[in-house]
Amino acid sequence: MGYKIGNIQIDNILSLAPMAGVTNIAYRKMCKKYGAGVVTTEMISDKGIFYNDKKTKMLGMIDDFEHPVGIQIFGGDLETLIFAAKWVDEETNADFIDINMGCPVLKVLKSNAGSKYLLDVDRIYKTVDSIVKNVKKPVTVKIRIGYDHNSINAIEVCNAIIKANASAIAIHGRTKSDLYSGEVNYQIIKEIKEQHPNFPIIANGNIDSPQKAKQVLDYTKCDGLMIGRASYGNPFIFKQINHYLKYNELLDDLKIADRINILLDYAKDLIFYKGELMAMKELRGQAGWFIKNCPNSSKIRAQLSSINTFDDLKNILNLTIFEN
Ligand SMILES: Cc1cc2nc3c(=O)[nH]c(=O)nc-3n(C[C@H](O)[C@H](O)[C@H](O)COP(=O)(O)O)c2cc1C
Repeated sequence: MGYKIGNIQIDNILSLAPMAGVTNIAYRKMCKKYGAGVVTTEMISDKGIFYNDKKTKMLGMIDDFEHPVGIQIFGGDLETLIFAAKWVDEETNADFIDINMGCPVLKVLKSNAGSKYLLDVDRIYKTVDSIVKNVKKPVTVKIRIGYDHNSINAIEVCNAIIKANASAIAIHGRTKSDLYSGEVNYQIIKEIKEQHPNFPIIANGNIDSPQKAKQVLDYTKCDGLMIGRASYGNPFIFKQINHYLKYNELLDDLKIADRINILLDYAKDLIFYKGELMAMKELRGQAGWFIKNCPNSSKIRAQLSSINTFDDLKNILNLTIFEN
């Protein structure tokens, strides 16, 4: 097992999916610590980089612990997208440059970016080809299987990306119109892998348990698996999946107290990077994920949604442990 992104050897085949507003630097480190092999930043706007926006550029900050790590960029204008790719190439510690060609969010589509690319295979070829020719680091692309169910074209899209000399493709097995729900089409991912046995293909979409991971891996024969929402409040899922793939044996889920400790460590790290208030604002939405399935979770989640300080967080969580 294992594959290469350009000349970077990937031994742990599990990737953390890029998720805007979620996969910040501390989140990525947490997932890495609990078994993710490859991590990628959330999508970063090419225009933000082009106009030297500090907040945008901060999203590309990387810790040494994260390698191998990619920075994902998005944008609909070739000139500024190349500018952003060169910035990742020359001014960041990222190991590879990932291009977002799958995002279904309206604002992104309006700028001709994300899954809008899927409507024009020639444009995909030209874009990937130009970026590859302008940078030294490997270029990867994240796509969906098509724009909608009448235009599923992942096979042609992958052919174009591979012809343009990209180094890997992650495929979310849904169309843009599906957004984040509905069935995931693993069959087309399997077909693409069959057609490109020597090119790294990473399967993504609803991989939410060790058994599901094994099933998708066995079925698609992909080189890697990418996991997004199943990591919410449970970065340990990476360890569970790795263990199951290796030993065919299930590790127990973490107990609530362990999950809370992971959250507190994550919170401390996030404070280190963003300051207390910013970190707590970000955690207002995320902290509740770590207490999923514990009694009174909706009441606790409501309390967590207004935290301002680390002590607020700790006090609410201490109470949670005490009550459970
Ligand atoms: C909150 C959220 C933010 C996301 N942001 C991005 C993003 O910035 N770039 C990207 O390529 N995909 C993004 N995605 C899509 C995920 O990377 C992934 O393809 C999708 O969630 C399916 O995988 P999953 O079922 O394992 O979550 C996002 C998904 C979610 C839920």
